Amino acid sequence: MNTAISTLHKEHDEARQGEVYGSLENSNNYTRKFYIESYGCQMNFSDSEIVASILNGAGLGATRQLEEADLVLLNTCSIREKAEQTIRKRLTEFSKQKKSNPGLLIGVLGCMAERLKAKLLEEEKLVDLVVGPDAYRSLPYLIEEASGGQKAVNVLLSREETYSDISPVRLDSNGVTAFLSIMRGCNNMCSFCVVPFTRGRERSRDPFSIEAEARDLFEKGYREVTLLGQNVDSYRWYHPETGIAVSFADLLEKIALVNPSLRVRFSTSHPKDITDDVLFTMAKYDNICKYIHLPVQSGNTRILQLMNRTYTREWYMSKVDRIREIIPDCGISSDIIAGFCSETEEEHQDTLSIMEYSRYDMSYMFFYSERPGTLASKRYEDDIPEAVKKRRLQEIVEVQNRLSKESYLQDIGKKFQVLIEGESKRSDLQWMGRNSQNKVVVFPKEGFSFKKGDYAMVEIHEATQATLIGNAVASVGVI
Ligand code: SAH
Ligand code: SF4
Ligand code: F3S
Repeated sequence: MNTAISTLHKEHDEARQGEVYGSLENSNNYTRKFYIESYGCQMNFSDSEIVASILNGAGLGATRQLEEADLVLLNTCSIREKAEQTIRKRLTEFSKQKKSNPGLLIGVLGCMAERLKAKLLEEEKLVDLVVGPDAYRSLPYLIEEASGGQKAVNVLLSREETYSDISPVRLDSNGVTAFLSIMRGCNNMCSFCVVPFTRGRERSRDPFSIEAEARDLFEKGYREVTLLGQNVDSYRWYHPETGIAVSFADLLEKIALVNPSLRVRFSTSHPKDITDDVLFTMAKYDNICKYIHLPVQSGNTRILQLMNRTYTREWYMSKVDRIREIIPDCGISSDIIAGFCSETEEEHQDTLSIMEYSRYDMSYMFFYSERPGTLASKRYEDDIPEAVKKRRLQEIVEVQNRLSKESYLQDIGKKFQVLIEGESKRSDLQWMGRNSQNKVVVFPKEGFSFKKGDYAMVEIHEATQATLIGNAVASVGVI
């Protein structure tokens, strides 16, 4: 059995930290080069693609070679203290690079830029540019300023910016799956969370530009889009002339109709906002993936109240029931925080039992990390000792490992439509793809002449905690 899941899924920002990007396509057409590393959530990875597009427009091409770069950018995350520490360490490493290339510019983008603002320039002397998530359009101007020896900062948050007219440069893409940003910011104010401060107010992107981007991706050969937002279910766009509203369910349907061979996913859903309309739309279209990431955070009503999550344990459980009723084959995953302020042992047990109830296929699990400026940091004492937080987290991880194992074993003998994303990392004789429930499926290439982006029908004969292994039994033209 694969036991890697506990580390693999423990901290998603750590799991995908520091990925280096560089679309090498056309990169030789540029004399000036930028190097970008992204940390944190998918929104940040998606933003790096917007940044790349803006920089291409300003005459800078992407490179994967740090030594080749005139500009080094870190797109940063502030969600937990550890995420910020990782970035500071990385910045120290860049100081060597700057010694050998004094003209090199170093920029911090994203949530840490927004949280610390100009303070970052004092704290990290080698940083030349600090640019918040809503200010990327000003990058060309700020780079010019910084090239002239000025320190350049723009951390203005916007109520309107959605970058809807900017066509992202797909960085490091597999050519099959892509993220599509549909909204920015968050109005929820969960008490532990720094995102409302780093990303600003919620705003929805116009549905026509989203649809056009999905269509364009499909025409370029992509077969899956993930609609991204901190809280996609509160997507709401009003037509400026008619005032007619487009809800998330409407948008989901619009994108599902782009083409039956284009899969649609979305992330993340706040349990309070996911409506029956969304669930019925998911059930209606085969190409809307049967998978919901539904972060619970805690299984105890008192803690949920302190967290300002606005639902109770029972309410969350009835949401899970509703999902299973309307979409019986739906995969559900979660985010969980161990050791929030004042959490008792019994309250921690409630988290373990809600995990059992919900039968998550997978969870991202964290221990609580106090973030400056958040409601929790102002109102509650971070009073659970680190050793207790870690022990509770370990218990959560163990329950999840067992649940994942059970969920994956249950799939043995079933057949799934799998979208092929590429070769398996372990062997070039095998394909890797995902089923609708977002589970990774690996199967031998032999017997069929599949290519990346094809759909295969795969029968599962073996399972680990994080992978289904099977054999292709048919090709599937349209799902
Ligand atoms: N918008 C998403 C989550 C964004 S952050 C949502 O609402 O579901 C991703 C996850 O990080 C959160 O779901 C939460 O589990 C975790 N997280 C956020 N702040 C944290 C903190 N201060 N300490 C530990 N984990 C935190
Ligand atoms: Fe943070 Fe809550 Fe907003 Fe998610 S919904 S980004 S956890 S404030
Ligand atoms: Fe991190 Fe910002 Fe995303 S804090 S999780 S990169 S929104």
